[in-house]
Amino acid sequence: MHLFHVYVWPLLGILAGNSAKGSGISGTNGYVEYFPGTADSKVIITASHGGYLEPISIPDRTKGCLSGAACIWTHTCGSMNSQCTAKTLRDTKTKELATELTAALGTQTGKRPHLIVNHLNRRKLDPNRDTEEAAFNVSAAVTAYNEYHKFITDARAHITGAGLLLDIHGQSHPEKWIELGYLISKSRLNTDDLKPTLSSIRSLYNRHSTSMNFDALLRGTNSFGGLLSSHGYKVVPSPGNMSPGSGNFYSGGYTVKTYGSRYGDSIDAIQIESPYALRTSERATYVAALTAVVKDFLKLYY
Ligand SMILES: *[C@@H]1O[C@H](CO)[C@@H](O)[C@H](O)[C@H]1NC(C)=O
Ligand SMILES: [Zn+2]
Repeated sequence: MHLFHVYVWPLLGILAGNSAKGSGISGTNGYVEYFPGTADSKVIITASHGGYLEPISIPDRTKGCLSGAACIWTHTCGSMNSQCTAKTLRDTKTKELATELTAALGTQTGKRPHLIVNHLNRRKLDPNRDTEEAAFNVSAAVTAYNEYHKFITDARAHITGAGLLLDIHGQSHPEKWIELGYLISKSRLNTDDLKPTLSSIRSLYNRHSTSMNFDALLRGTNSFGGLLSSHGYKVVPSPGNMSPGSGNFYSGGYTVKTYGSRYGDSIDAIQIESPYALRTSERATYVAALTAVVKDFLKLYY
């Protein structure tokens, strides 16, 4: 058994051509998983909303109760309130997108990113929320939540100096654009009220502020959005779509807030919200473009 795990399992992974899958560290019950990157990688990729597992032992996240202006997120809080409805929709194929991006970066650069995956369906656990809303005080879900975040903390500890976390999500907004979340809100983008101190790439700005202003880092030609739009994609923010205007836009959630550089440290974070087609029928082309963009971005700033 021991020999099988140490020698045969990684080998099977390599033979299957799936280098991101050879060496996963599973959390309890296999609900979350960590694929450590190569020692010199500066990139962490996370996928919280693409899981499929629906163990019946974990009741579905439905609604919490309202207490003043806040929600109590448990199954035993009393009368559920629709103002406290949990978001439970899966981000279709984001686990696959994150896994394929990790593998392509590993193959092309020799530096495989750290990958953290939640295998539970979002109805059971949402790791991109604080622990109460994420797990509804269900013990097995709380354990998976803590392990998911411990894995991110472990991955961060492997990176010395500047690093980049990409949190992979999906949305179905009618604009069909790629939304990049830096914790800069739609209204701030719309009014050009851009504050690096609020952003999840605060450290990136601090490192390069002598040569680039924050606006250019956020939505200029050499921003992540600028590089991605040069592959033919519609991206906000980017030179072609500087702000969402009246369109739909996610500016980033718990993961980029917690693990990006807004509150210090030197690991930056970007939430990538991709439209449906890019996660499904057009995923192969999209992964190739994203891989090229991440490589360019790393060369420019890390
Ligand atoms: C969470 O669950 C435990 C039992 O597992 C219980 O003792 C505790 O009161 C619960 N917390 C809340 C806020 O409901
Ligand atoms: Zn999501």
